[in-house]
Amino acid sequence: MNENIKTRLWWQKEILYQIYPRSFQDSNDDGIGDLKGILSRLDHFSWLGVKGIWISPIYPSPMADFGYDISDYENIHPLFGSLADFDELLNEIHARGMKLILDFVPNHTSDQHPWFQESRSSKDNPKRNWYIWHDAGVNGTVPNNWLAAFGGSAWEWDERTQQYYYHAFLKEQPDLNWRNEEVQKAMFNTMRFWLKRGVDGFRVDVMWHLIKDEKFRDNPINPNYQQQMATYDQLLPVYSTDQPEVHDIVRKMREVLDEYDDRMMIGEVYLPINKLVTYYGSKGKGAHLPFNFQLLLLPWEPHQITLAISEYEGALPSDAWPNWVLSNHDQARIASRIGSEQARIAAMLLLTLRGTPTIYYGDEICMRDVPIPFADIQDPQGLNMPDKNLSRDPARTPMQWSSERGAGFTNGKPWLPVDRSYVRKNVAAQRDDTYSMLCLYKKLIALREKEPSLKEGSYTPVYSDHQLISYIREKEGAPRFLIILNLSHRTSYFRSPGIALNGSIEISTAPEIEGMNVKDAIGLSGDEGVIIRLL
Ligand code: GLC
Repeated sequence: MNENIKTRLWWQKEILYQIYPRSFQDSNDDGIGDLKGILSRLDHFSWLGVKGIWISPIYPSPMADFGYDISDYENIHPLFGSLADFDELLNEIHARGMKLILDFVPNHTSDQHPWFQESRSSKDNPKRNWYIWHDAGVNGTVPNNWLAAFGGSAWEWDERTQQYYYHAFLKEQPDLNWRNEEVQKAMFNTMRFWLKRGVDGFRVDVMWHLIKDEKFRDNPINPNYQQQMATYDQLLPVYSTDQPEVHDIVRKMREVLDEYDDRMMIGEVYLPINKLVTYYGSKGKGAHLPFNFQLLLLPWEPHQITLAISEYEGALPSDAWPNWVLSNHDQARIASRIGSEQARIAAMLLLTLRGTPTIYYGDEICMRDVPIPFADIQDPQGLNMPDKNLSRDPARTPMQWSSERGAGFTNGKPWLPVDRSYVRKNVAAQRDDTYSMLCLYKKLIALREKEPSLKEGSYTPVYSDHQLISYIREKEGAPRFLIILNLSHRTSYFRSPGIALNGSIEISTAPEIEGMNVKDAIGLSGDEGVIIRLL
């Protein structure tokens, strides 16, 4: 990695930020966030130093899975606004030197999409083979044992045409048949529709699901299944996901992006590292960034974290650019998984590792998961498996902008409750508080922006034990940084014989010690992390 930073592309240099549009900012008081709302909040990003925005789906949808069930790929849901609002937002984002990535959901459509309506109308409809239809097994049983991610069988019986169709998620989300070239063509054209409009790329939903085993073989039993897991996890999805031919599809998607300048594609891929990295594609002609979810899935334990970072660094193909994620709209928020104090350590980790970080809206003010009364649960994953506490609503609550009623998110009734803490935990309050999470994020982002070692330097692990991890980021000719993170609540001590420790504290999770000189050893308070500028 000795190229000059000028040769880096925008998605390697900038920080990405995920907006869950229903919950970011409401502009018309219907309690649901919208595009005009996002437009009105663009200053937040300029202030924070974030330049890349990814918006979860905003297309027309019956909202069975809150927009991940699309009924028209080339329009905007009226709840969020219009195509004109979209163009205005995109222009304004570009005018600020920022980029916009849309969510692209190619694996399945809504059952209300005209393609599926046609497909299910008769067995000889020209679009029949656009979806995955299968005869019943003997005695009318489902074709195989595949399970749906949101509970139950992945096969739904269609009375009219007497066949089953396959849905990896809800029955309202039938899977497209990506082995069909007409489907490929139609979907690539929907990508072009947005690329021509000027979007800078896509986050591709469930990329590893796109192709399924041609023979529809049964999935094997998962020997590690435990009761609290989703029913889907009873089997290992070895035949229903991650099939070798998926890489042809990803490569073709990449070719579509490459018809335009400077566009990019992130793949949502939940797979072990060795498989994940194959989604960069042969010769790097796959996804620009297959999402790396390790920090979001691993226990918050120093040995495991440091090992995972090294394994990932080791597995990356030579030209592949790394990336890191702490939270998203499908998982518990980082502050709820590891606590608010450790969430500061996580922020420091996210923004000092090598590669593109993605920030989930609200994490920058340390938002936590919000308990939703049973009667108000909206997420189908929660509703379908009520005894397992799997609802994703708690991590999708409205952004807390201010202490005003509705947290500055809405004057109406928010679609999900606002966290009670909003009166004290909000953007406005934290902007004025040097000790806040928001100011920590801002400082970390500014340092990353300024320092070539942090932006694109190498990563070298230094020392870790049962409490802390540490590593050096370094680029030739630029100041070097040692990052030491205490992942425990107890005091811990760094005295590595391996390096001559001499420098000053550039940023600490406890700003009081910033500027302090350190030599030979350093003691850290519980939940403390420091970035040391080495001499
Ligand atoms: C992805 C999305 C998730 C959605 C699912 C089905 O995992 O992130 O929110 O429910 O795909 O589209």
